[in-house]
Amino acid sequence: MKEILPNQQLIMGNSSCEEILQILLDHKVRRFLLVCGSSFHSLAIADTIKGFPIPYTVFSDFSPNPKYEDICKGVALFNREGCDFVLSVGGGSSMDVAKCIKLFATMDPKELFLRQAYLENGIPLMAIPTTAGTGSESTRYAVIYHEGEKLSVTHGSLVPKFAVLEPSVLESLPLYQKKCSMLDALCQGIESWWSVNANQESISYARQAISLVVEHIDGYLANEPVGNEGMLLASNWAGRAINITQTTAPHAMSYKITSLFGLPHGHAVALCLPKVWRFMLENQALCIDPRGREYLASVFDELATALGAQGPDKAILWLEALLETLDMKVPTGLDEAKLQVLVDSVNLERLQNSPVKLDALTLRKLYENIFDFLKEG
Ligand SMILES: [Fe+2]
Repeated sequence: MKEILPNQQLIMGNSSCEEILQILLDHKVRRFLLVCGSSFHSLAIADTIKGFPIPYTVFSDFSPNPKYEDICKGVALFNREGCDFVLSVGGGSSMDVAKCIKLFATMDPKELFLRQAYLENGIPLMAIPTTAGTGSESTRYAVIYHEGEKLSVTHGSLVPKFAVLEPSVLESLPLYQKKCSMLDALCQGIESWWSVNANQESISYARQAISLVVEHIDGYLANEPVGNEGMLLASNWAGRAINITQTTAPHAMSYKITSLFGLPHGHAVALCLPKVWRFMLENQALCIDPRGREYLASVFDELATALGAQGPDKAILWLEALLETLDMKVPTGLDEAKLQVLVDSVNLERLQNSPVKLDALTLRKLYENIFDFLKEG
């Protein structure tokens, strides 16, 4: 698969934000649109950004699962205020919104943006992620809801021109949120590596992401600056990896767990991944990666090594032990009806990124396994 990530400047932040200001000055920005959530104002860097000698307009009027209508309001504000630069400071939602505003800003507002041709329009986009997990600051995807349906807007120009990794933004995050986002980064790294779309480049990103997660778990959870910086980098590498490969079965299976049980994304994915990996390990005969079974076996071995385990079996046990240590509980209240909803929710086409064939019956067994359903029932 062709490398799609265009040139992105990655900036390791510092609380004085000098480089950010310099970029705005270099671009002769007249006014920037600051896309952020309400938590922005409590960040250490907020006052510095607000104090830049450049006018700005704030856009925060969007829901956590951003709707198409939210984006339209942002596009109208961007144009009405004469903005020429988009700065996103926030988690996944802020970034999704900022990406879409950038992409839609030069389109015809009288027509549905989603039906118009996506083109690079030259509006610079800078992203400062405030969680270490999605890696969205380096992907060409934005997830929004249109008429109640979740859809992924995908275009090369959605990759922010500048990504700023500023560790101080993680300091005030609740511990549970930090655990969830870290697990998202870890799972994205693992899934990208075994994806049928993986190539040398994506694998090198995934390898770096996983090594950084393993190296920095303790420091990150202890809120040390080095740990926070390491996890932001890990998340960024994992984002670059899935930008090439997309995610696989654990992500596809997790979305409905999140919406049915209100479980954060990273938590839901992490519950799925060890079970999916074990199934794939035991069913390599069902390998659908054209590179074959031996290739898949070598991927599992290398993944285990990157996780610091001796072989994939031990790696899966390590992941399960990690979930226990982090106290990532399985939600209760699954019944037969919900189980069926979960099975039906999985986009079978999306599963084709996974290296081992998964059908509806397998999905059912995997969900039963994740929820310990048979033993419960
Ligand atoms: Fe994810």
